[in-house]
Amino acid sequence: MSEFNGKKRQRRSWAEPYKIKVVEPLKMATRAQREKAIAAAGFNTFLLKSEDVYIDLLTDSGTSAMSDRQWAGMMKGDEAYAGSDNFYQLEKTIRKYYGYKHVMPTHQGRGAENILSQITIKQGDYVPGNMYFTTTRLHQELAGGTFVDVIADEGHIPQSENPFKGNVDIAKLQQLIDEVGAEKIPYFCLHTTVNMAGGQPVSMANIRDTTAVCREHGIKIYLDATRAVENAYFIKMREAGYAKKSIAEILLEICSYTDGCTMSGKKDCMVNIGGFLALNDDALAEKARNMVVVYEGLHTYGGMAGRDMEAMAIGIEESVSYDHMRARIGQVVYLGEQLIEAGVPIVQPIGGHGVFVDAARFLPHIPQSQFPAQSLAAALYINSGVRAMERGAVSAGRDPATGENRQPKLELVRLTLPRRVYTQAHMDVTAEAIIDLWEKRDSICGLKFTFEPEYLRFFQSQFTPTCGASVLNDGENEGETYSDCESDILPEQHADAHD
Ligand code: F0G
Repeated sequence: MSEFNGKKRQRRSWAEPYKIKVVEPLKMATRAQREKAIAAAGFNTFLLKSEDVYIDLLTDSGTSAMSDRQWAGMMKGDEAYAGSDNFYQLEKTIRKYYGYKHVMPTHQGRGAENILSQITIKQGDYVPGNMYFTTTRLHQELAGGTFVDVIADEGHIPQSENPFKGNVDIAKLQQLIDEVGAEKIPYFCLHTTVNMAGGQPVSMANIRDTTAVCREHGIKIYLDATRAVENAYFIKMREAGYAKKSIAEILLEICSYTDGCTMSGKKDCMVNIGGFLALNDDALAEKARNMVVVYEGLHTYGGMAGRDMEAMAIGIEESVSYDHMRARIGQVVYLGEQLIEAGVPIVQPIGGHGVFVDAARFLPHIPQSQFPAQSLAAALYINSGVRAMERGAVSAGRDPATGENRQPKLELVRLTLPRRVYTQAHMDVTAEAIIDLWEKRDSICGLKFTFEPEYLRFFQSQFTPTCGASVLNDGENEGETYSDCESDILPEQHADAHD
């Protein structure tokens, strides 16, 4: 029986497959300091200063700890403007593990999305995909396209225990092709794993079926490979016929069904910055290289320093290790299972890069128009210093055609785990903080906008509570010496000790 087999939840112990060589001390602000900090941040966790955060689960993007091998690789940075040795090393590594022919580094994932969108999408086109991602959809829209979500319905249902909730609904894809015509669909945008659905994987069988439909109609298929290695691990653990295959073999097979990929190297590849665009088609790659020099940098560095390309090449090799992935996803499961046991509603099965708390069920008294997930993320920070991210109505933004707020079915708070950064003890503290909040959930209220930017509003928008000065009115707002979750692990005096 698999240790991650949802229902029985039996697990064998695992330990992190590394030991810690360098440490970064953490600081813990007091409850009063946190109240002030989140109010100054307009109740948006993106606007908090990192120094005010205790355990930072905002994102797994660019937040990984690099290995000693990666740091050693940094010293081999060849910072030549053109033809850096590190580029050729990175190109060779991407060809080996992802299998694509042409590789163009970009400053991060959205740089690759911008270029792919501009060279493939025309005004009035449709881009189907298995759920939107914020930056990906925006670049598709800015290029004149309309994103169409064709993920299977289960992807939108937090309680559904389907092991491949990221799967494409082939009938929905076929329906779109019938309605608008294949010539209006420049490509299919395949996400692995599906971030906005809760880090949920796609099965190999479904990828094969999706590709077959695309090929039949002459539609290209591009992979958002940001967390494809995590998806490969889930296929190994859950899909018949893959248990004995290596993660690297499975990754290569996923990529073999696609025509290229955009990549945010800040996730699976375990670097702090960087990304790439990879394509198989020679003519399209030439177009892309032309755009890279306009928006990113010369095609042999594309916005990345030589040393960062070297670290990324090494990170890719490390990412396909079974031991790494088992501990990485095992840590997410470890946190998620504690919440499930306490009755906290989360997206199940537990996803690849984080635990997604279902804010709609956590705070049923807050209507979606008052942003329950945004409120919950702010309240969690106030309660514990743990920083999470809203993935609900604020992230979904407005419909560009109508200007109305989108109302996504999923209203989630993402507790995202940086790779190789925190220990199980940090997960225990995080779980305690959330369970404590769950027990006093009635004291959380909603939020309304005070500032709303035009693009990707979740990053910079600001809010005010719908009820008084704070989103968390549990009677603890006044005290300077509130002891979080009554845990010895979080002594408030730490803040003073570091001043
Ligand atoms: N695609 C996916 C699936 C992502 O999760 C991200 C970034 C991107 C593309 C864009 O890449 O940030 O390097 O430009 N996700 C981050 C997150 C921001 O926190 O989930 P980028």
